[in-house]
Amino acid sequence: MGVAEVIFFLTSIFFVLKVCIAFPGMNDLDITSNEKLPTFVTPGQTYRIATGSTVVLPCRITDPGSFVLVWKRGIAVLTAGPVKVTPDPRVRLLPSPAGTSTLPGIPGLAGGGYSLELKDVRPQDAGDYVCQIGTMEPREITHTLEILVPPRIHFVSHMGPLEVVQGSTVKLECRASGNPVPTVAWTRKNNVLPSGERSVNGLSLVIQHADRHSAGQYQCSADNGVGQPDSRHITLNVRYAPEVEAERATVHTGIGLEAHLVCIVHAEPPPQVLWFKDTTQLGTTEQHAAQSRGNRYTLVIRNVTDVDFGNYSCVASNTHGKARGHLMLTGTAGLAVFDSPSLGHEKEFYNISWSVNSHAAVTEYELFFRQRYLHRSHHIHDNGTIMNRNDRWNSVVVTAQGITNPLLPAPPPFPGVTRQKMSYVIRGLQPATTYEARVQAKNVHGWNKVSPIFHFTTRTNEIENMVEPSAQPAVYGVSQQGISPYSNHGSHNPISTRIVLITLIIVLVSF
Ligand SMILES: *[C@@H]1O[C@H](CO)[C@@H](O)[C@H](O)[C@H]1NC(C)=O
Ligand SMILES: *[C@@H]1O[C@H](CO)[C@@H](O)[C@H](O)[C@H]1NC(C)=O
Ligand SMILES: *[C@@H]1O[C@H](CO)[C@@H](O)[C@H](O)[C@H]1NC(C)=O
Ligand SMILES: *[C@@H]1O[C@H](CO)[C@@H](O)[C@H](O)[C@H]1NC(C)=O
Repeated sequence: MGVAEVIFFLTSIFFVLKVCIAFPGMNDLDITSNEKLPTFVTPGQTYRIATGSTVVLPCRITDPGSFVLVWKRGIAVLTAGPVKVTPDPRVRLLPSPAGTSTLPGIPGLAGGGYSLELKDVRPQDAGDYVCQIGTMEPREITHTLEILVPPRIHFVSHMGPLEVVQGSTVKLECRASGNPVPTVAWTRKNNVLPSGERSVNGLSLVIQHADRHSAGQYQCSADNGVGQPDSRHITLNVRYAPEVEAERATVHTGIGLEAHLVCIVHAEPPPQVLWFKDTTQLGTTEQHAAQSRGNRYTLVIRNVTDVDFGNYSCVASNTHGKARGHLMLTGTAGLAVFDSPSLGHEKEFYNISWSVNSHAAVTEYELFFRQRYLHRSHHIHDNGTIMNRNDRWNSVVVTAQGITNPLLPAPPPFPGVTRQKMSYVIRGLQPATTYEARVQAKNVHGWNKVSPIFHFTTRTNEIENMVEPSAQPAVYGVSQQGISPYSNHGSHNPISTRIVLITLIIVLVSF
């Protein structure tokens, strides 16, 4: 016997065995009758159907003969043979077309049976549906119907807006039904949740220590993948004591100008805001007007005069408390800003320049500079004595040019402060050395605050050293694979050749 014959023989045995195991009924002949007993072509299954849709439960049999096919649900008979028993108008019988069996390789079996159609399914329709054939020992298959129900939120802890006092713990709840059981997720409109997360799953959302940042609109949304998610909104209002912040703690102005002092106030319920100069409460006069828009509370001082300079405060209060913001109105210049390059063009001198905003003309500046030491505190000499480095500031008084023509006050209501520029050449510096500088400006109202520190470095001796020396020679050209000017033309890099060889060997060995 050839190999082909053996294989054919074994395959045949295997196929016959397989068919017999899969369809035992085929050999199960009723001893008392010559009639072949029907068997089910369609196996019992689970159907997952959304509410409102139509389902067809199949029951297809071979050799229907004269046996009666019955559809049952529990003990209730829905259909018997071709007759519909149940009065439910949603139920319909669909005869399975007779003809060829769907069994592979077994043609010619007479088929039959009835499928059960159920329209507009409802959650109550869930359960087992039995297709039974009235043989002596009844045979049956069971279909299980699961009804998928879209999510529906049926409980929300707070219907109207929820009012709480600052510091409270708030629990928002949403309960939802549906099949499968929906997931409830919490989000917040135009914001992240107080925890910082964008979304949190759970039936409830707990907000600890509610404050003004937790106020807003929250949303719970139930989703189970069936139909559209369902969602509800809860508005949370938090009542809290005022929080006050001066928009600018120091307001620079000038004689004859209109000055605006602004406090940003957060409070719920809305606060009452009063203005004070030192300890005197300010009423609305020709000179003063209190205004508010949203969170901004403004004291307008018209036509500023000398007596208006000084310390002001805004006091905000509501039923939960009181808070105060401090502001200073001054005619002195604002902080100076340096604008010269941090790397100087010269070795021994440096042209330092800066500008200030001042309404009144600046009459003089005091410029401070000193060499910068990284470790300023102490310096240990070779002989062991610890000495303070010379960290005293050098100072120069720079008389402002053009003060013979004092700047004219800008007409109200513009806070007409002017930018005034100045420069000074510092001489006697060391090359390639970093210095630090500060400057202060004086006008008719006095000295302003000293500016923050500015660093500058003088030029090195050798112009070549101006460029950062790099450890590796630069590679020119766009492509990394391009031939570098340092490579030996005509010979390849031995290391890359070796890598190619090793790779080749690995590829060959792996085959
Ligand atoms: C501002 O006040 C000064 C002095 O009180 C007065 O001379 C001037 O007319 C006032 N200007 C305006 C615009 O009210
Ligand atoms: C304003 O208050 C500051 C401190 O907040 C104080 O140093 C300054 O002397 C006060 N100015 C006046 C005019 O009271
Ligand atoms: C210093 O710099 C300023 C502005 O950057 C310039 O107006 C001025 O002429 C310079 N002074 C000298 C001496 O170069
Ligand atoms: C140590 O050296 C410093 C700087 O050279 C000098 O000023 C100081 O007098 C020396 N001290 C002693 C004890 O020699």
